[in-house]
Amino acid sequence: MSRKLYIKTFGCQMNEYDSSRMADLLHNTHGFVSTDDPNEADMVMLNTCSVRDKAQQKVYSQLGRWNSLKMENPDLIIAVGGCVASQEGEQILKRAPQVDIVFGPQTLHRLPDMLDQCIGQKKSRVDISFPEIEKFDCLPPARVDGPKAYVSIMEGCSKYCSFCVVPYTRGTEFSRPFDDVMTEIVELAEQGVREVTLLGQNVNGYRGPLYDGGVMEFSKLLYYVASVDGIDRVRYTTSHPIEVTDGLVVAHVAIPELAAHLHLPVQSGSDRILKSMKRGYTSAEYLAWIDKFKGVYSNLSISSDFIIGFPGETDEDFEQTMDLIDYVQYDQSFSFIYSPRPGTPAAEIEDTVPMQEKKARLMALQNRINGFAAEYSKGMVGTSQRLLVDGHARKSPQQLTGRTENNRVVNFDGPSSLVGRFVDVMITEALPNSLRGRLYPGSIKHAN
Ligand code: SAM
Ligand code: F3S
Repeated sequence: MSRKLYIKTFGCQMNEYDSSRMADLLHNTHGFVSTDDPNEADMVMLNTCSVRDKAQQKVYSQLGRWNSLKMENPDLIIAVGGCVASQEGEQILKRAPQVDIVFGPQTLHRLPDMLDQCIGQKKSRVDISFPEIEKFDCLPPARVDGPKAYVSIMEGCSKYCSFCVVPYTRGTEFSRPFDDVMTEIVELAEQGVREVTLLGQNVNGYRGPLYDGGVMEFSKLLYYVASVDGIDRVRYTTSHPIEVTDGLVVAHVAIPELAAHLHLPVQSGSDRILKSMKRGYTSAEYLAWIDKFKGVYSNLSISSDFIIGFPGETDEDFEQTMDLIDYVQYDQSFSFIYSPRPGTPAAEIEDTVPMQEKKARLMALQNRINGFAAEYSKGMVGTSQRLLVDGHARKSPQQLTGRTENNRVVNFDGPSSLVGRFVDVMITEALPNSLRGRLYPGSIKHAN
């Protein structure tokens, strides 16, 4: 009987991606099959995130819960990976001796060896080094079971924003070689993938080594990815404003496969706060890029990350953020209250904003952006939208569900044979969290 692996993932899409690669790897090397039930697992793994607070606490309380599993089954292997593992290292074994393996975001490919050593020598293993690109060389080809896939093209971050732990936990920026990225995408397309999302902490800072010593920049890479047979939609996240180029603006116009969506985190609309965050741009520079994109693209949906209540943020600073939001008219946001991260420069700045005030600001910001999003959804009623059909709708399984270019969920009636294909639908109704649509009669014939 095959051994079972349970993975609990905290955090961003990069972590989701890493978790699926770990499952692939342990399937190939040790025959592990994924399970949703930790109680029946032979190995349980936590893939952690430490971007915001309580990360450590969450990890240790989860490990406490898993201690009882280990008491029932002393052969159970417990592994901890990701950014908290990278930060805490050996400390994890001291506080949670039931843990067998600790590995960082850049050493997940060494898991099979660590597992063998741990079983053979009955001794815990810790490896949180940053061997960079070696990780990708050692991972098996990606396996997928749907029409969409993520592809990590660059890792780490060298920007050192004053509030962020990522450069310390995931290491400095490095890009995967162009040939490796393309091989992975061609293999995904051969397995039926129709949409890829290129991933990286600053994905548009990609500078992929070429076999002849040259460098492939991000905007050029997009043309190659979009030209792969079978890949009909390309997304990317997260971009950094200081890595945007005119070439990227042009790529959005020239590449039909590129989704009409831009995630460009601004964090704040106040130049004083941006400077203290060490973001490397002013609000005017950010807006100049937004203007360029909007100038060539009428239906571009724009989203951003925001940090509310950064130390020293005044009412006036916050108003500048709200003004910027009104100008851009964002469609979506990932907005969070500032969380001091030990070891980062911002954690040393005195935090004078009361929590109640931060919560009020966050709510005002989210309400404003939700208002824009509702308007966009209403404006989509009566329009034709291209969807990649993901599967059956969660709440009414007799219906199909798919996503538009601007990431809205649309539910509609149609045959199961359309799953994994693109269809054109007319949007008939905008609901708070999704849209309803109707298939165009010719759509089934033309779905590709
Ligand atoms: N590289 C991207 C960019 O352009 O900044 C962001 C990557 S970062 C891992 C994801 C998001 O987490 C950031 O955009 C920021 O909004 C949020 N974040 C990072 N550190 C944070 C902190 N200490 N408190 C609150 N949010 C934080
Ligand atoms: Fe973090 Fe800033 Fe890099 S938010 S991931 S240090 S760009």
